[in-house]
Amino acid sequence: MTMKTPLHLLFWLSWLLLFFFITFVSATGRLNTPKLGVVDRTRVKNHGGGAGTIAGTKPPSSSNDFETFFYTQTLDHFNYRPESYTTFQQRYVINFKYWGGANSIAPIFVYLGEESNLDDDLDVIGFLNDNAPRFKALILYIEHRYYGKSVPYGSRKEAFQDANTLGYFSSSQALVDYAEVIIDLKKNLSAEASPVIVVGGSYGGMLASWFRLKYPHVALGALASSAPILYFDHITPQDGYYFIVTKDFREASEDCYSTIQQVWSKIDEVASQANGLTYLSQKFKTCYPLNKSSDLKDYLDSTYTMAAQYNSPPKYPVSMICRGMDETPQGTDILSRVVAGLVAYRGNSSCYDTNIYNYPSETSEGWSWQTCSEMVMPIGRGDNDTMFPAAPFNLSSNIESCKTTYGVSPRPHWITTQFGGHNIIRVLERFGSNIIFSNGLRDPYSSGGVLESLSPSLTAVYTKNGSHCLDILNSSPDDDPEWLIMQRKTEIKIIDGWLTEYYMDLAAKI
Ligand SMILES: *[C@@H]1O[C@H](CO)[C@@H](O)[C@H](O)[C@H]1NC(C)=O
Ligand SMILES: *[C@@H]1O[C@H](CO)[C@@H](O)[C@H](O)[C@H]1NC(C)=O
Ligand SMILES: *[C@@H]1O[C@H](CO)[C@@H](O)[C@H](O)[C@H]1NC(C)=O
Ligand SMILES: *[C@@H]1O[C@H](CO)[C@@H](O)[C@H](O)[C@H]1NC(C)=O
Ligand SMILES: *[C@@H]1O[C@H](CO)[C@@H](O)[C@H](O)[C@H]1NC(C)=O
Ligand SMILES: *[C@@H]1O[C@H](CO)[C@@H](O)[C@H](O)[C@H]1NC(C)=O
Repeated sequence: MTMKTPLHLLFWLSWLLLFFFITFVSATGRLNTPKLGVVDRTRVKNHGGGAGTIAGTKPPSSSNDFETFFYTQTLDHFNYRPESYTTFQQRYVINFKYWGGANSIAPIFVYLGEESNLDDDLDVIGFLNDNAPRFKALILYIEHRYYGKSVPYGSRKEAFQDANTLGYFSSSQALVDYAEVIIDLKKNLSAEASPVIVVGGSYGGMLASWFRLKYPHVALGALASSAPILYFDHITPQDGYYFIVTKDFREASEDCYSTIQQVWSKIDEVASQANGLTYLSQKFKTCYPLNKSSDLKDYLDSTYTMAAQYNSPPKYPVSMICRGMDETPQGTDILSRVVAGLVAYRGNSSCYDTNIYNYPSETSEGWSWQTCSEMVMPIGRGDNDTMFPAAPFNLSSNIESCKTTYGVSPRPHWITTQFGGHNIIRVLERFGSNIIFSNGLRDPYSSGGVLESLSPSLTAVYTKNGSHCLDILNSSPDDDPEWLIMQRKTEIKIIDGWLTEYYMDLAAKI
């Protein structure tokens, strides 16, 4: 799929403004949380070919119908100290084009912003636009606090100064923000009776599911796409994430898997020899000379991990990498095979920037705070359980580095205390309703997702070959495989059922 020019430019701009981060394994072997986020924007940079395009980048045909507004939001919803009453401007974007209006009690579809500038998501989240016409729905996108144009204290610099100013940056505050905007907007539009469906992906998908549980009076239902709400407090085994990355590669090609498994020690071996790093820099055509073997290993780690997480049709990055390796002649050495895989994936380039995943961005800075406060996801890997070298999750070293950076300790049990997660079936079977937990089983984060329906209206909808957040991205009629089309249809049918029931209750004056 080729991207159309205006969007392409837009992506370039957002790329320039917003480099996405991930540092999986640092030189010390410490493993950080792989990034969340509905799409892998690092792939957009490489536009010359290869994996330069991402599924679902077709711009919504109605992007000119977006109107931007700002809501005067309260800084701290949970305290009554004078500072709590400080306000900031929170951005929200509305598309009125399809709305049937308050008189016909037409529904409102709300996208709950994730850990990024809302502009990035407006272009790629197609689920609301694709389905609003048939439901005559109003579309509302709300930006998450501390991202994009919704930053308190007047500027990012002020807001990100220290833990005093960052202290109001939490999922619980964000959920109240969303509730306030929705309630206020409905009042403004005299649409109090209009049913609200919230949609989110990745971290935003967690927010969507938690929002329905906490604010059933505001949202009738939630579509939580690729939401790893069980990757907290060791509910999910630490190696779940990398186990699936490994499985994806192994399913694509056994040789590819075993080549990757062997490359780590090969790199160390070569790097330890005289001029080894120079040799590796030339071999991998790195844009900057490698200073240590982990520069290269971290880059490969991130490349393979992101390929698995965003392994979307029609190109399937994992298959691209493995095909590149497998097409090398019999007997080709390990490093040459790995290089061939990279070239097949990223396209032929004069050099490859091994720092591509490390540049600071709005998202990396924001998410860094979030993982140092409440979003503690124990993701790691042991000996021989994945194709990667061991890097167990180490809470003490996490705590140490968070304290150094922010002066505060992460709270590893807070998310499960606030939102639950343990024994989720027993807890939610007779409590809660109207949530779709959607997943693709090739998405490493599906290991922390809800893959089993918890009750007749807490429904798990997954696809065997799906990747991260695929169902809520823009549809692409020419490229979408049948199973993806079916997944979306199933979700729409479920949402239709919630709405039908709601209107029946309303008619019966329940
Ligand atoms: C509702 O209307 C008021 C007054 O016009 C405005 O200040 C506020 O931002 C509006 N809220 C929403 C969510 O549209
Ligand atoms: C190696 O260090 C030099 C000097 O600090 C730096 O310019 C270069 O980008 C580094 N290489 C990599 C791959 O990070
Ligand atoms: C790849 O690019 C280099 C120059 O960057 C060029 O010399 C080479 O022919 C290209 N290879 C292919 C297969 O296009
Ligand atoms: C992992 O595999 C290596 C090589 O096969 C072996 O030497 C080592 O004992 C294994 N470690 C564990 C914990 O199984
Ligand atoms: C975890 O990290 C701490 C502090 O960096 C270190 O002292 C400890 O040895 C690590 N534990 C393991 C099991 O690696
Ligand atoms: C999933 O992908 C594999 C190839 O990787 C293919 O053989 C299989 O038919 C696909 N499954 C579905 C349900 O499309």
